[in-house]
Amino acid sequence: MKKTIRDFDLNEKRVIIRCDFNVPLKDGKIADDNRIVESLKTINYAIENGAKVILMSHLGRIKTEDDKIKNSLEVVAVRLSELLNRQVIFSPETRGKKLESAIAELNSGDVILIENTRFEDLPHKLESGNDKELATYWANLGDIYINDAFGTSHRAHASNVGIASIIPSGVGFLVEKEIKMIGDVIANPDRPFTVILGGAKVSDKIGVIKNLVNIADYILIGGGMAFTFLKAKGLEVGKSIVDEDSLDFCKDILNNYSNKVILPIDIVCGNKVTEDAMATTKSIDNISIDDMGLDIGTNTILMFTEYLNNSSTVIWNGPVGVFEISQFSLGTKSLASALTRLDITTVIGGGDTASAVIKMGYKESFTHISTGGGASLEMLEGVSLPGIEAINDR
Ligand code: 3PG
Repeated sequence: MKKTIRDFDLNEKRVIIRCDFNVPLKDGKIADDNRIVESLKTINYAIENGAKVILMSHLGRIKTEDDKIKNSLEVVAVRLSELLNRQVIFSPETRGKKLESAIAELNSGDVILIENTRFEDLPHKLESGNDKELATYWANLGDIYINDAFGTSHRAHASNVGIASIIPSGVGFLVEKEIKMIGDVIANPDRPFTVILGGAKVSDKIGVIKNLVNIADYILIGGGMAFTFLKAKGLEVGKSIVDEDSLDFCKDILNNYSNKVILPIDIVCGNKVTEDAMATTKSIDNISIDDMGLDIGTNTILMFTEYLNNSSTVIWNGPVGVFEISQFSLGTKSLASALTRLDITTVIGGGDTASAVIKMGYKESFTHISTGGGASLEMLEGVSLPGIEAINDR
C-alpha cells in the first residue's frame, strides 16, 4: 500500500504536487480542463492543511524552441487561479535564483506553478531522461513530494520518479482513486465482468487483451481493431483498417477464447472518412472489397447492450466507431448511453473514450472516467507504473 497525502503533516511544509496538466490547447486556449478540475481535490487539501504548494507538470512534447512558445503552462496558472479562487503564482523558470526566491517567499496556503517540466528536455532530455542532477535540484525545492499525475505515471521522468526517489513521497487523491477504480477493480471485479475494447489498432491493445482475456468474462470488440479479428476469421473486410502483423495473434485469441471474445455481427460502412461520407449498414459476411467499416451496426449495438445489461462490472477502452463523424457515432453513443442507465461499476479508460463520453455530457454518469490514456492502458495490461512504484510504501 502506497503512502497518501493524508499520511503527512503538511503544515508549513513545501509540498511539491506533480499534476498532469497536459491538457489539449486550441489557439492557445485550454480546450478541455478536465485534468485541471480533477487535480483540485489534492491541491485544496494541501492548501487547507497549511502547505506551501509547489505545482509541477509537463505540457506537450518539447523538441524545438517553437514547442516551448506553444506549450507554456501560464494558461493553466490562469485557469487554476479561477478554479481555486486564489492567485496562483506562475514561475516562467524551471530552475534558478528567481524560482528559488519565489518559493522562499511562499506562505502557508500559497500556490506556485512552475513552468513546463519538459522545457528541460531541450537540448538534452533532462526531464524525460530522469536526469539525476535535475531531479535532485527539484527535490531540494520541497520537503514532501505528492504524485497526483496519474496520466504521467507510466513515465519514469525526473519530475515524478526522480523526485520521489529523493524526498518523502505519497500519492494524491486522484492517483489513489485511479488505482482503486482500475487496479482494484481488475484484481477483484464483481461478475459478470465485461470489457469493451475499441480503437484503431490491435497492436496497441495486445497487452490489454492478453491480460484481460484471463480476467474478464466477456470482451466486446469494436472500432478499427474489429476488422483484424474479422479478417483473422477469414471474412472479407474491404478497405477497413487491418493490422496485418496482428493477424496471427487474433487467430490465436479466437481459437482459445471464442466464448469470451465477442465480435460485431454488422458494420456501418462508408466510402470515405469525412462528414459527407455515405453510410450503409451491412452484415459482416456481406462486406465488399470497396467498403470501409467505420462503426458497429444496430444489431451489434443490441447484442453488445445485452451483454452490458447482464454485467456487474464494465471497463471500456477505445471508441467503437469514428464517433467524431455523426454517421459513424451511433455505436459509441449507444453503448455510452446504455452504460449510464445501469446501476453497476462502469470505468472508462482515459484518452479518446474519456473525451467522447465527456463531450456527450456524461461526465458524472460513470463510476469513474480515467484521466490517463497511456497510463490506464498500462494498468489494464497489468503492468506496474514506475511513477506509482517510486512512491514510499506505508
Ligand atoms: C498523456 O497525456 O497521456 C500524459 O500526459 C503523458 O504524456 P506523454 O505521452 O507525452 O508522456
